[in-house]
Amino acid sequence: MINRVFIFDTTLRDGEQSPGVSLNMAQKIEIGRALVDLGVDVIEAGFPVASPGDFEAVRTLSAELKGVEIAALARANARDIETAWEALRQAENPRIHTFIATSDIHLEYKLRKSREEVLRLAEEAVKLARRFTSNVEFSAEDATRSDREYLAQVVITVARAGARVINIPDTVGYTVPHEYHSLIAFLVERLKEAGFGEALESGDLRLSVHCHNDLGLAVANSVAALLAGARQVECTVNGIGERAGNAAMEEIVMILKTRADFFREKLGTALDTGIRTQRIVPTSQLVSRLTGMFVQPNKAIVGANAFAHESGIHQHGVIAHRLTYEIMDRESVGWSGSAIVLGKHSGRHAVDYKLKSLGWKLSRQALSRVFERFRAEIKDVLRRIPDEYLEGILYDEFLADRYRYRVISAQVSSLYGTSLRPIAQVEVEDREEGRRIAMAVGVGSVDAAFKAVARALGYIFGEGEDKGEDKGEKLRLVDFHIDALGRGTEAEGVCGVILEDASGRRTAGLGRDGDIVAAGIKALVNALNRLEASREKGEDLRRQLAREAEEEQKVEEARPMCR
Ligand code: KIV
Ligand code: ZN
Repeated sequence: MINRVFIFDTTLRDGEQSPGVSLNMAQKIEIGRALVDLGVDVIEAGFPVASPGDFEAVRTLSAELKGVEIAALARANARDIETAWEALRQAENPRIHTFIATSDIHLEYKLRKSREEVLRLAEEAVKLARRFTSNVEFSAEDATRSDREYLAQVVITVARAGARVINIPDTVGYTVPHEYHSLIAFLVERLKEAGFGEALESGDLRLSVHCHNDLGLAVANSVAALLAGARQVECTVNGIGERAGNAAMEEIVMILKTRADFFREKLGTALDTGIRTQRIVPTSQLVSRLTGMFVQPNKAIVGANAFAHESGIHQHGVIAHRLTYEIMDRESVGWSGSAIVLGKHSGRHAVDYKLKSLGWKLSRQALSRVFERFRAEIKDVLRRIPDEYLEGILYDEFLADRYRYRVISAQVSSLYGTSLRPIAQVEVEDREEGRRIAMAVGVGSVDAAFKAVARALGYIFGEGEDKGEDKGEKLRLVDFHIDALGRGTEAEGVCGVILEDASGRRTAGLGRDGDIVAAGIKALVNALNRLEASREKGEDLRRQLAREAEEEQKVEEARPMCR
């Protein structure tokens, strides 16, 4: 049997059926193009008879997307099939995907038809679709809850009628891998007995799987079916879809790639897809952004934590050798940046590694000083520690005597039930320019306080600034967050800010206080102090620390020779 697995992507049809998801045409085209770049074989673009919007989507994507098959869904009746074909006409390689349910539950309660009638409708539907194109797929909806003998009869009938792909959906996510494997193996056998052995071997006839995730088994079931002889997988990006979703494309593709050894051992050959795996994460992020469906951080492959190592033991292992705790290369699926995430479990190795990746070379003694500060000041305060905060404590440790600014006092109003706006008044000391007082009005009290501090020290923030009034250096507030350390209204407030100047230099600041506005002011002044000191002395410090590290290394290398 062929070793190529065809990826049938139904993000734009079954995925778009996710509760709360509705994509406009421009968004569908953007996702369609991303799927072509990703290398999927088939894009199911919609269900044309369902609505004029669906019809238009299939029509537009058929015209726009090249180098991919475009499928349109149609129930097993003439109107659906003709409408699907009408929408597909302009596609380079169109596929009509017709379906009817085969389980007794659906026959009795939904279709109110006998098995014989459904068998006839299935056959007629495929024959009608074949009049338009030789690329016809048939799906036996709710196949996994259908009587096996009857299902085999339907499958053989539609194969004889000319279906090129026969899909065996687990419509309600009911099956389990062992059972699904045996069902697909049984259907392969029946098709062989009916004379379709060669067509299955060559891939001219393909069994397809389409699994829903109601029991969390969609991917496992799909893989079991591939082991039994299916060669098309229907799936969606990020596993979005009806109810608990569909099988996640990225997981299936990476299982086949990462465990090629296993498939080789079981089947005598690895199973390949045409997916360009480096496009997986960018496509996942695009789909998440456009559908508004958030990807859980611990989601395999595409979740933010999927390749992030935070615990000290794991970080140490990964720094020593990636294979200790990583089974895939994060870059191979499109992640960039470092896998080492600093957090409350991080140890000295991770801090050292991060500083090195930021271009800092530290002696053991200097590293200890930074690590102690890391442990005492930020480890338990921030959940995730961006690089800017780590560099920040390094500046605090070695450059604090260069810090220029100090807030002497501040008064900030906080309003409720009035259309007046909060005002902040601050008195600051600039070591070079002396004391200054400034006032500002803000959207809220933190905003007013930030503006007053910035005005007093000669900076302007971002785009939404008081137009024209302020003069000073423009800075961008890249990140701002407020958190509580502990519970209840007496909890200490923590504020973190990251600033960026026009040259792209970034510094972070952290402030803690029982009053959240005061915490914000402290964070801002901390970031500004670090910014000024790093501009003035940052490079000198980098060189000085590197020199000390080299000297320490020389002494250590010389030591055994002295003995
Ligand atoms: O889940 C299902 O059975 C379907 C079919 C229409 C293929 O989506
Ligand atoms: Zn489905």
